[in-house]
Amino acid sequence: MIENLRKTDPEIFEAVYNELLRQRNGLELIASENFTSDAVMEAMGNVMTNKYAEGYPGARYYGGCDFVDVAEKLAIERAKKLFDAEHVNVQPHSGVQANMGVYFAVLKPGDTILSMQLSHGGHLSHGHKVSFSGKLYNVVHYTVHPETERIDFDLVRRLAHESTPKLILAGYSAYPRIIEWEKFREIADEVGAYFMADIAHIAGLIVAGLHPSPIPYAHFVTTTTHKTLRGPRGGIIMCKAEFAREIDKAVFPGAQGGPLMHVIAAKAVAFKEAMSDEFKNYQNQIVKNARTLADALVSQGLRLVSGGTDNHLMLVDLRPFRITGNIAEAALEKAGITVNKNTIPFDPEKPTVTSGIRIGTPAVTTRGMKEPEMVRIGHLISKVLKSPEDEVVINNVRKEVQDLCDTFPLYVERFESMRRLL
Ligand SMILES: Cc1ncc(COP(=O)(O)O)c(C=O)c1O
Repeated sequence: MIENLRKTDPEIFEAVYNELLRQRNGLELIASENFTSDAVMEAMGNVMTNKYAEGYPGARYYGGCDFVDVAEKLAIERAKKLFDAEHVNVQPHSGVQANMGVYFAVLKPGDTILSMQLSHGGHLSHGHKVSFSGKLYNVVHYTVHPETERIDFDLVRRLAHESTPKLILAGYSAYPRIIEWEKFREIADEVGAYFMADIAHIAGLIVAGLHPSPIPYAHFVTTTTHKTLRGPRGGIIMCKAEFAREIDKAVFPGAQGGPLMHVIAAKAVAFKEAMSDEFKNYQNQIVKNARTLADALVSQGLRLVSGGTDNHLMLVDLRPFRITGNIAEAALEKAGITVNKNTIPFDPEKPTVTSGIRIGTPAVTTRGMKEPEMVRIGHLISKVLKSPEDEVVINNVRKEVQDLCDTFPLYVERFESMRRLL
């Protein structure tokens, strides 16, 4: 099938091929990225992309929806089972649009949201001023505690009582610890707020039972499907049955038009995969790998925000090495190791510079890497961070990275079939 792409558009073919090489030949340590299965990709690249299906299964605004209905119903039923949710909407095109769906369902412009500050681990769509969420709503932010660098529940409670928000939000982009959902629900009940959990990063860990589920506590739960969950790029919303109608209306027609039926089909496949024992073992290995990598970095003299990790990611405070996040990110990239610069709580540097990097293990774990490789990767990272301008060091690390990548190959058949067409 890829032959048609090469004939019609050699430039895009080449870009896809080069991206495949980049993924195969580097260590992907961005905490929000992963490698989907071939089955997930096959479900995304097919005739389902042609179909308009505004509405919901059995109640569409277009004819000819019998087979896309099959896919959407399977996605819904599997997600309900997987997360033990009463109602699921699988149509949001992304995590931000899942969050938008909840806001549109329960908030009016000007209502108050209480959420984590971006620089302490929150997400843009949780009310940052550059996002629609910060422009439409009145936003109050809580932070982590300056000493423990864990959620400051005294602050959350005080701000909730002072600002009486309509919605309290938990669930983050850069928080390495277990989240105590029940404490948020308790505070939400004290002030008459709804409680929403955004589990975009940790959905896979929750499904595998390695991290507590917010489902019993939250009125609304959103997630992306492409991070630890290892599905296609997209979002879903889960809620109690009593909010089902409002949520569905808020997604379509409130925030979106035709659903991406090929992506919904791929979400169904990913949910099926996530029900397997293999997936549970995979999630378990992600966490073991994160702990091992964290220990390796600490043993090299780096500091971790909150002192370690309970999940798939860690935030590295680079100040002991007198290097900033932007320089670290660029030096590691040259060595074939992809991470992102990230603010650490109370960061003295600007968000474009930062004092930290965020590192996650889902993608390298998908390649089959385990604890011994994490120890090795920890040493490689620290070598680069100690000499970010030393070309010899960087080239030597690049060779070791290639060796690791060759030992744990990725998308072998896909690579061979594209290479043959060059
Ligand atoms: C906690 C959280 N919510 C939402 C999102 C947004 O997801 P998307 O990029 O699919 O819109 C992210 C993405 O990084 C996230 O970390």
